[in-house]
Amino acid sequence: SEMSNIGNSMNICWHECPIQKLDREHLLQQKGCVIWLTGLSGSGKSTLACFLSRSLHSRGKLTYILDGDNIRHGLNRDLSFRAEDRSENIRRIGEVAKLLADAGLICIASLISPYRKDRDACRALLPEGNFIEVFIDVPLEVCEARDPKGLYKLARAGKIKGFTGIDDPYEPPYSCEIVLEQKGSECTSLGDMTEIVISYLDKNGYLR
Ligand code: PPS
Repeated sequence: SEMSNIGNSMNICWHECPIQKLDREHLLQQKGCVIWLTGLSGSGKSTLACFLSRSLHSRGKLTYILDGDNIRHGLNRDLSFRAEDRSENIRRIGEVAKLLADAGLICIASLISPYRKDRDACRALLPEGNFIEVFIDVPLEVCEARDPKGLYKLARAGKIKGFTGIDDPYEPPYSCEIVLEQKGSECTSLGDMTEIVISYLDKNGYLR
């Protein structure tokens, strides 16, 4: 149809700029990438994003956080929590993350991103090795006990419909770069979780 032609119309052409990702990465002394934090509401995504950003910043690395909650106030203010809208939320954040990674930044995306296919689509947008999926594996009971915003309580009372983990699914990754477990006595501290991610970046050449 005419509509489906918009994105790849023959009237739109791609401009190459002589300054490329590698040039920017050289300037910044880092490798542009996306650290994609996925997990239930209350699993600690936003807090970990802040810890990571602070730690990398203090090592002289340029980062930027894309937080689902925050972006829903602006770019994604037109989106609800229906499945199609969540998919669109994830798609747009994936596209923005791709631009930031191409700019040479270490982009930290922090959103529930509950559906596997949407996360995989974001991975597919990025060059090989530029998408680092981090699953914050915290059991629902733990997130619900924390309930920092009181939303689980509202969801249980039926006052919020389609809440992730209650009456909307969360699909954990089949395989991803990093799993941070917070189960039973093996509770990993925020400091430790930050260290695990930073050392992954270090070992894999993202920090030069
Ligand atoms: S998603 O699924 O990736 O599009 O979600 P995200 O953009 O990360 O937004 C999640 C935050 O929105 C609040 N909220 C809900 N979460 C899940 N389900 C429903 N129905 C819902 N309604 C509002 C909630 O505070 C989430 O915040 P976090 O930071 O994850 O706790």
